[in-house]
Amino acid sequence: MYKYLKITKSPNLTGEVTISGAKNAALPLIASSILAKNEVEFTNVPEVADVKTLLKLLNNLGAEFKFENHSLKINTSSIKNTTAIYEIVKTMRASILVLGPLLARFGHCKVSLPGGCAIGARPVDLHLKALKLMGAEITIEQGYIHAKGKLKGSDIVFDKITVTGTENIIMAASLAKGKTKIINAAKEPEVVQLCEVLKDAGVEIEGIGSDEITIYGTDGELLKFKKQEIIPDRIEAGTYLAAGAITNSKITLKNVITEHLEGILTKFKEMGFSFEEDKKTLTIIPAKKIEPVKIITTEYPGFPTDMQAQFMAIATQAEGMSIIEERLFENRFMHVPELNRLGANISINGKVATIIGPTKLIGADVMATDLRASSALVLAGLIAEGETNIHRIYHLFRGYENFVEKFKGLGAKMEILNEPNP
Ligand code: EPZ
Repeated sequence: MYKYLKITKSPNLTGEVTISGAKNAALPLIASSILAKNEVEFTNVPEVADVKTLLKLLNNLGAEFKFENHSLKINTSSIKNTTAIYEIVKTMRASILVLGPLLARFGHCKVSLPGGCAIGARPVDLHLKALKLMGAEITIEQGYIHAKGKLKGSDIVFDKITVTGTENIIMAASLAKGKTKIINAAKEPEVVQLCEVLKDAGVEIEGIGSDEITIYGTDGELLKFKKQEIIPDRIEAGTYLAAGAITNSKITLKNVITEHLEGILTKFKEMGFSFEEDKKTLTIIPAKKIEPVKIITTEYPGFPTDMQAQFMAIATQAEGMSIIEERLFENRFMHVPELNRLGANISINGKVATIIGPTKLIGADVMATDLRASSALVLAGLIAEGETNIHRIYHLFRGYENFVEKFKGLGAKMEILNEPNP
């Protein structure tokens, strides 16, 4: 049964919200459990659809896991199948993260090509090119990546910065024979946590957090993982800050790592918002007047593409013209026509969106198209007159844990309803 989200105008939010563990940290770490000789335990794991999908994939390979109260225990010693099937991979492209570990541990695997997704083609050519440099034989047959070979360390230069590409190679290199140096590596906090967890498990890694990472492989020796806590989700945090911003409300976030948010906070401050910070707590203070903003999305520590849609929603309320350039993905403006349905004044010219504000938004039926676009529609629904119905709301479940409960906790009026039978 399809569901939709009904939001009633909720102009004033108040109170505090606790941020969950980061989906994009949990996914590579779950994949890395394939490299373990012992049972792996992670805490603060977000109970979101994408995490459940990857666990379903691991289970399909033969691994066992127990996931309750945000604590996850995985045993991969029972893996006996190294084929990641299309039926599961097609639902989440981050499934590609099992490629490096499976190949490194078993010397062979078949992983369905993830296929594109709404925001772009999302190729994995850079992943494959790097694994070939490490000695893998790779062919593509009938939509599957066939990989085999004993991996050896190599120098790898990524032509483009790729987060999961960097993560795949770090995991593959951990069990390879010899040294792997990755140049032009991604520096996201989620990549850093993966390196730290692998280092704690016995892999020698240098340059953690930099764009040049060196990994000294164990030559097939499996890793002994220690219990680890997933870092907080910086994009979930940014999204709730955006909820405070668009409703011009003072709200407090708990369990954040502020330094992971610098690129985002800079843009909030340019728009007139300010912050109070206390250890792992962060409060957004309303702006006297929401200023227009210019944003170009770039890799970490720049302004993240995963916050682009949310800032576009805020920009509809800024007094003047805002410009947002999307540099990472070729089709990440699908929230624009939906925001315009609500009364926004946004035009697109190639990779650049121009937002004229402020515009009065009026509730309407809109369609969610991808995870972060959906969150932009929720933000707009908070301030749109009357009621806004967001259809295909399942996109939001992929990356935002308990979002209805969390938003209600801030005073938002929203509920999940069943689509009427057509
Ligand atoms: C990660 O995706 C995130 N997902 C994305 O978050 C995020 O938007 C993206 O990084 C950018 O920050 C996870 O971490 C699970 P990329 P990833 O490889 O790694 C091109 C969300 O909302 N590219 O960094 O798949 C690619 O086309 C998701 O949580 C190649 O050309 O993204 C894109 O233009 C959405 N060839 C650019 O690089 C390759 O082999 C960045 O992609 C790989 C990537």
